[in-house]
Amino acid sequence: MTAASRLHFGGDYNPEQWPEETWAEDMLLMKEAGVTMVTAGIFSWAKVEPRPGEYDFGWFDRVMDHLGDAGIRVCLATMTASPPPWLSRLHPEVLPESADGSRRWPGGRQHYCPSSPVYRTYAARLVERLATRYAEHPALDTWHVGNEYGCHTRQCYCDVSAADFRRWLGERYGTVEELNDAWSTAFWSQRYDTFDEVLPPRLAPTFANPAQQLDYWRFSDDALRQCYLAEHAVLRRVTPDVPVTTNLMPQHKPVDAFAWAPHQDVMSLDYYQDPYDPMAHRVAAFSFDLMRSARDGQPWMLLEQAPSAVNWRPRNGPKKPGTMRLWSWQAVAQGADAVLYFQWRQSRGGAEKFHSAMLPHAGTDTRVFREVADLGRELASVPEIAGTRSRADAALLTDWNSWWALELDSHPSTSLDQSLINRAHHQTLFEAGVACDILPPDRDLSAYRLVVVPNLYLLTEDDARRLEAYVEGGGHLLVSFFSGIVDECDRIRPGGYPAHLRRLLGLRTEEFWPLDEGARVSVHGALNGTADLWSEVIHLEGAEAVARFTDGDLAGGPAVTRHAFGSGTAWYLGTRLDATAMRALMDQVRAAADVRPVLPGLPAHVQATVREGAGTRFLFLLNHGPGSAVVELPAPLRDRLRPDAEPAATVTLAPRGVA
Ligand code: GAL
Repeated sequence: MTAASRLHFGGDYNPEQWPEETWAEDMLLMKEAGVTMVTAGIFSWAKVEPRPGEYDFGWFDRVMDHLGDAGIRVCLATMTASPPPWLSRLHPEVLPESADGSRRWPGGRQHYCPSSPVYRTYAARLVERLATRYAEHPALDTWHVGNEYGCHTRQCYCDVSAADFRRWLGERYGTVEELNDAWSTAFWSQRYDTFDEVLPPRLAPTFANPAQQLDYWRFSDDALRQCYLAEHAVLRRVTPDVPVTTNLMPQHKPVDAFAWAPHQDVMSLDYYQDPYDPMAHRVAAFSFDLMRSARDGQPWMLLEQAPSAVNWRPRNGPKKPGTMRLWSWQAVAQGADAVLYFQWRQSRGGAEKFHSAMLPHAGTDTRVFREVADLGRELASVPEIAGTRSRADAALLTDWNSWWALELDSHPSTSLDQSLINRAHHQTLFEAGVACDILPPDRDLSAYRLVVVPNLYLLTEDDARRLEAYVEGGGHLLVSFFSGIVDECDRIRPGGYPAHLRRLLGLRTEEFWPLDEGARVSVHGALNGTADLWSEVIHLEGAEAVARFTDGDLAGGPAVTRHAFGSGTAWYLGTRLDATAMRALMDQVRAAADVRPVLPGLPAHVQATVREGAGTRFLFLLNHGPGSAVVELPAPLRDRLRPDAEPAATVTLAPRGVA
């Protein structure tokens, strides 16, 4: 993406769905809407390569020229997200299979096995053509590889994948003895004599081997990434100076955003809040923080959002007036330098004809088009925001390996949901107005005053030592239950849970005591409230109890603990607190760590963030509440979105208002 010159604005452009006469009008209306960038060609494979090896780029040349003439930058898709029907007719083995052996047929999209050498070869051949053809095109800005990897085909269990899995395991373990050890195959007579006997975890009569399942998540993520990297390699060779991205999905279990981040020049995210969810902005806040953190605070792109309703929920609510603007600014406030939509012109046919678009079926005399064009103008008026960054005193740690392992079957409770656990912790920081980065556990934590570990069920010994060193050096750490339980192979470390964290937390958990569905217990001490989902039998070994269970099976036992360790403090939460008690706990932890909100005394529902660059500091205020809100600033500031207004120390935000 052309760096830091402006906040880009635009959307997916699918001109092949319309007669060519429409394209000139598209350009005029795009200019009217303030569009500066489109992402084009995402689903164009079948039209540019109608028969194997026969290319028809003429029409796409004209699309590129139109865009170039209009001064619109192109985030050019590699067109490989939906293979044309001829590919699977010619090579049926490219079609993916699910765990029960059933095949996924063409007719939708993403109907390819990620391990398929046939798919990768045909895709790379197309990308070579495309990259060579448009390398010098003045409109080319950024490459957009594939589209939402793993959205529909997350994992494939076909024979091609099975062979690729065996190759992958061979590289990971070297010998079958190592594999047997890593997978604990002494259990249930699962010992393998050769790699040739190994299969993906296809549908079995009962629980499949957990370590095999965990490795299959790793392998499948890697297979998707290899598809991306195969195209990336072509693009790097042909157009070494053009940045490359792929649009990730939020909190998307099949794709480890932290593992993909180093291979992208800019992170990009598709985000579709549910307008009927009153918590939508808090849920989004987590993903936006993660996007910003994944490449060390580098600005990212919101590559897709809906101008109003989507078409794929059971009930597709429109965004109320002002909501689209508010949520777009939220992305910018949390580090985005581009705001794009799916899609420019609303489709006439196909599965997405009821999905909103920047240019609705009803045309330009519409609320949606007016709101789009207003936002385009507004973003264009503050180009200096582009390239600015933010910093946080708090970090939240999460890890895809641990997520995959946590949600395997045959656990003390199958109600543990990584996204919900993460969000519950993130939300308490969000509500307190605290800026937070989201990182994997192997990052340097020394810059943070507070580190929160919602749940790292799988924790390597190195990462556990890193947490120890962090606290020893003066850091404040909050760890929640069922963390540090297993190693990389989902094997328990004996001797009392959580083995590698016992010294740091100053305790030992003897037994897990998950709570029955709907059951609640009381917790009292330095914070008071109720808890559900989880409890455990904790023995203090140096830590002190901050709060104890006061009823239920574990009455009298510690529920929340604190341990002075080195120059810092490690807190432990052995249950799931209700939201109020959780806030009270986080307030105490924050006070001890001296982690302050971006702006003190913020009214409820108002989000405040800061981005700063060379000599400039932007404060973003976003009112997510249903009523207006008054924000007192420490000093008068000029509202860059109301250039005629005088600087003021009191800002009144209308419902869904932004300053
Ligand atoms: C995304 C996808 C787009 C479009 C959109 C609709 O998942 O990348 O192509 O389908 O959803 O919301």
